[in-house]
Amino acid sequence: MPLPVRIAPSILSADFARLGEEVRAIDEGGADYIHVDVMDGHFVPNITIGPLIVKAIRPLTEKLLDVHLMIAPADPYLEAFAEAGADGMTVHAEAGPHLHRSLQAIRALGKRAGVALNPATPVEAVRHVIDIVDLVLVMSVNPGFGGQEFIPDALEKLRAMREMIGGRAIDLEVDGGVGTENARALADAGANVLVAGTSILAGNDPKTYGDRIAALRQAAVTVTA
Ligand code: DX5
Ligand code: ZN
Repeated sequence: MPLPVRIAPSILSADFARLGEEVRAIDEGGADYIHVDVMDGHFVPNITIGPLIVKAIRPLTEKLLDVHLMIAPADPYLEAFAEAGADGMTVHAEAGPHLHRSLQAIRALGKRAGVALNPATPVEAVRHVIDIVDLVLVMSVNPGFGGQEFIPDALEKLRAMREMIGGRAIDLEVDGGVGTENARALADAGANVLVAGTSILAGNDPKTYGDRIAALRQAAVTVTA
C-alpha cells in the first residue's frame, strides 16, 4: 500500500512571539501535520510548551496536530492534551514502564496513538505494541533541541521499523536534522512523515515556508509499505 509523504513542520523553531502567525503560515505553506514538541525539563533537558499552547493554536488550523510528548510520566497529561485539541499524541517508549497502557489511554481518548524511539532504543521496543499504534516516530537526534545534526544510524532503524510495520497503515515518522539533503534517503528507508523544524522555519520568514515545504516533499518520494 503506497503511503503519501507527509511534511510535519515543527513549531519548536517558530518565533513564539508570533506563534499564531507562524502556525497559519506553515498551514498555508502546505504542511500536512503541525508537529508540537512538548518537553518537561526532566525526560529531556529543555522545557517548552503545554496544553495551553495547543489550545491556543487549535482554532488556527485544521491540519492534524501531531503532539510529541517528551515528558515522563506522560499518562497524567494525556487527557489535558486531548481536550486542548491534539489529534495525535506520541509517547516515548523510554518514558515509563507501561507503554502499552499509555497507548491504550490515547486510543481511549479517541486520538491517534504514537510511540517514539530515542536513538539508543532498538526497534524491538515497539514489537509488542505494534497493533495498537497509528504512528511510530524514529528520533534521528537526541530529543531536546532543534537544529542538531542528523544521526545516520536512523536510516537502518527506519528500514527495520518499516519491515516490522509490514502492511499495517501506520505512519513512520522521522524527527531531527531532516532537510532536502536527506529526505530522499529517509523516504527510501521507509519514512513517510518528515518532521522538520530548522529546515523549514529558519529565519522565521513566513514567505519562505511554502517553497521549503514543497522542496522537502519533492526531495522525498512516495513509499511503498
Ligand atoms: C527535537 C524535536 C524535534 C525538533 C526538530 O527534540 O523533537 O521535533 O523540532 O528540529 P530540527 O528539524 O531543527 O532538527
Ligand atoms: Zn519532535
